[in-house]
Amino acid sequence: MTARIIDGKAIAAALRETIATRIAAQPYRPGLAVILVGEDAASTVYVRNKDRAAKAAGLNASTIRLPAETSQASLLATIQSLNDDPDIDGILVQLPLPPHIATDAIIRAIDPAKDVDGFHPDNVAALALGAPSLVPCTPSGVMHLLHAAGTNISGARAVVLGRSNIVGRPMAALLLAADATTTIAHSRTANLPDECRRADILIAAVGRANMVTADWINPGATIIDVGINRTPDGTLTGDVDFAAALPTAGAITPVPGGVGPMTIACLLDNTLLAAGRRRG
Ligand code: GUN
Repeated sequence: MTARIIDGKAIAAALRETIATRIAAQPYRPGLAVILVGEDAASTVYVRNKDRAAKAAGLNASTIRLPAETSQASLLATIQSLNDDPDIDGILVQLPLPPHIATDAIIRAIDPAKDVDGFHPDNVAALALGAPSLVPCTPSGVMHLLHAAGTNISGARAVVLGRSNIVGRPMAALLLAADATTTIAHSRTANLPDECRRADILIAAVGRANMVTADWINPGATIIDVGINRTPDGTLTGDVDFAAALPTAGAITPVPGGVGPMTIACLLDNTLLAAGRRRG
């Protein structure tokens, strides 16, 4: 048996198309402001891709580039002016921030109604309480992929590998809300391979190249690989050894072309959702 490949690129393109049609039907252009502090190479690429996709879908998108030395007070002032701007529906501060800035203070300063990353404590709480509002984009994209792949989620055993605030924790909350029997496994989990082998749905989000090998996979399982790792030879690879997993898994996402494109599509979706709520 060979696993079915879940084509995130195609699924994201279809989602962006639907979103663009919905945006075109609005009497206003939803506004998205993306803030990039400093010149981290990966962040610069991510922000450019977000800006391009947002403009292509018809959003009124702008990127605010600030120098790495920007003070926390100055960044807070920028956020406040965006909170007060009626034309702005979504605010995203690209992470990581330079070390002299307290990330949690910045996230708390964003108006929760404009928090299209879903990182504000109000939005985290809503998700934890089973009443999702604005949901983090990467886990939201994973749920879209599972639905598009026709995966049975209700009653399935789901294992989330990784407990980050951006992916692992909200991912587990979404799977739980969809009635999966959900486990979060992490670096201190006893016998990680055994834990993963129990999964009907395995979400790998640890950031370690090819960590999940064929013997970690329950035959027929759906594998979603959130990892994007650069190997010494410069190629991109996920957290799952894709070639080794192919004969065992039932369905699997590639890297690149799996989860990555979905994250941006879900950002556009969140901006449209925030705009609809704010503008009624
Ligand atoms: N850095 C890596 N992933 C993300 C994300 O989803 N949102 C933001 N703001 N920064 C990130």
